[in-house]
Amino acid sequence: MIYILAVSDEPELYNNSIDFPQVDMLLSCGDLAPYYLSFLVDRYMPSVRIMVHGNHDGTYFIEGQEPVNLQYSEVFAGMFSIVNGIHVLSCDDYDFLDEDLAIGGFSGIAAYGEQPFYHTDFNLTQFKTKVIMKKRFSSFSGVDIMLSHAPPDFGLIACGEGNHKPSEKLASLNDHLSPKLWLYGHIHRRYTNCDLNFLTRDGAPLNLINACPFQYFSYDQETGDIELLRLPE
Ligand SMILES: [Fe+2]
Repeated sequence: MIYILAVSDEPELYNNSIDFPQVDMLLSCGDLAPYYLSFLVDRYMPSVRIMVHGNHDGTYFIEGQEPVNLQYSEVFAGMFSIVNGIHVLSCDDYDFLDEDLAIGGFSGIAAYGEQPFYHTDFNLTQFKTKVIMKKRFSSFSGVDIMLSHAPPDFGLIACGEGNHKPSEKLASLNDHLSPKLWLYGHIHRRYTNCDLNFLTRDGAPLNLINACPFQYFSYDQETGDIELLRLPE
């Protein structure tokens, strides 16, 4: 069993820290400042720390520098950064893994502008092409967990207007990556009453979970089952 703390958008735990008994992986879906992620790393000491970027993550970049992808941030070394790509964790490196675990990430929201804060249809097509080639020429068959800042539209999330509208084009990555779990941010839970979490055990096509401001849950690597352990109030 893997114990995961997923976060995004609001530094809720900074002043309301919770004693989670075990955090194997810290996964950030974006729009959180380095000081907060640094606090979470120190507080919970997760072995794995991975982030995608949101549209307000300018603090991670020095003007004129390329965003780092599939490596640790040069500004904040504590988090492994995925602009868009796939990172595979080897079970030889982490005791809590029964087998290798593949994590896909796609940063930003669908709007005209620079990656990693924004992405275009062309960026999505480029990523899909990379995935198709990887599947054709290696044993890669998909990811276990997908991270995005923007919400994907699987016809499940019944809210979000303007640039918070769930994206069908982002959801189309599912055809190529088939994650058991998709974590997203950008939609703030406290601004809406609509359902933001969907589990396969309740009939959803995949486990789709909003990480804002945090979610603490267990993930069964064999079945992909999720148990939500502590919900934000
Ligand atoms: Fe956002």
